[in-house]
Amino acid sequence: MGAAPAFGALREHMAVHIPDDLIEAYRKAERVVVLTGAGVSAESGVPTFREAQTGLWAQYDPRELATPQAFARNPRLVWEWYAWRRSLIQKARPNLAHYALVDLEQATPHFLLVTQNIDGFHWLAGSRDMVELHGNIARTKCFDEGHIVGWWPETDDVPPRCPHCGGLLRPDVVWFGEGIPDHALRAAFDAAASCDLFVSIGTSAMVQPAAQLPLIAKRMGAKVLEINPQQTAISLVADWALQGTAVEVLPALVRALGFPTNAIDGAQQSSTNDE
Ligand code: OAD
Repeated sequence: MGAAPAFGALREHMAVHIPDDLIEAYRKAERVVVLTGAGVSAESGVPTFREAQTGLWAQYDPRELATPQAFARNPRLVWEWYAWRRSLIQKARPNLAHYALVDLEQATPHFLLVTQNIDGFHWLAGSRDMVELHGNIARTKCFDEGHIVGWWPETDDVPPRCPHCGGLLRPDVVWFGEGIPDHALRAAFDAAASCDLFVSIGTSAMVQPAAQLPLIAKRMGAKVLEINPQQTAISLVADWALQGTAVEVLPALVRALGFPTNAIDGAQQSSTNDE
């Protein structure tokens, strides 16, 4: 084995203590909702947004890149910035935290994964019951009419043009100042209001409306677990705030619960084969 394994981000780094009362609460829970943010993909090599130095918003101005006004002003810049981010994501892959969430879904009677991430890694890992609140960077839609566009003619236009109406194409992500699609918002809020356990992972909880979800769950009587190496506003209301990375904590949680680890094992196996 070399010093820097090709799939190093998939490794479990250290032992984590999972409190007994958390294990008991999870095993009793019928309904679990998980909210993920950029921190879940950090160990896949995808940058987060708000961390000093490394966060995307420390280097780029969201008003120039992630608003409809920015796109209207400079569509080429915005299209190319998202093309760059898409290429970063295409070079990366899900990590053990994504796979651990698949194992949790399989073992939990009612499980909904709500993600703010647009990288599609939860799908790729095998999560199925999920809501992508902020869209998916792999999809493209028409800026004028909003319909999803799967194909467009190759031309020199940047951004390319919608084959139906000739309007500009844009990524199917939610920008600042735009609303989250109704069905996604309703599914996330209904599930948060009726769950027994809410788990917030790798989010700074600074962007609405996602940041309200753990608070709603708490107010409606759910227990709240947070997994994040840093303190956030959620740490103050959480019943358990486990300070560790998603890859450190989530596989350890699955094992402590005694759940099958098929997805984790499969990922570890394929990482060994890659080396
Ligand atoms: P942020 O960048 O705001 O927060 C990332 C969080 O992940 C921080 O709290 C970190 O401490 C934590 N973190 C870092 N590494 C981690 C690791 N390995 N394991 C677990 N946690 C880790 O990202 P989000 O909260 O996802 O929206 O940001 C929410 C939204 O703001 C994004 O969806 C995006 C952004 O602007 C839009 O673009 C609309």
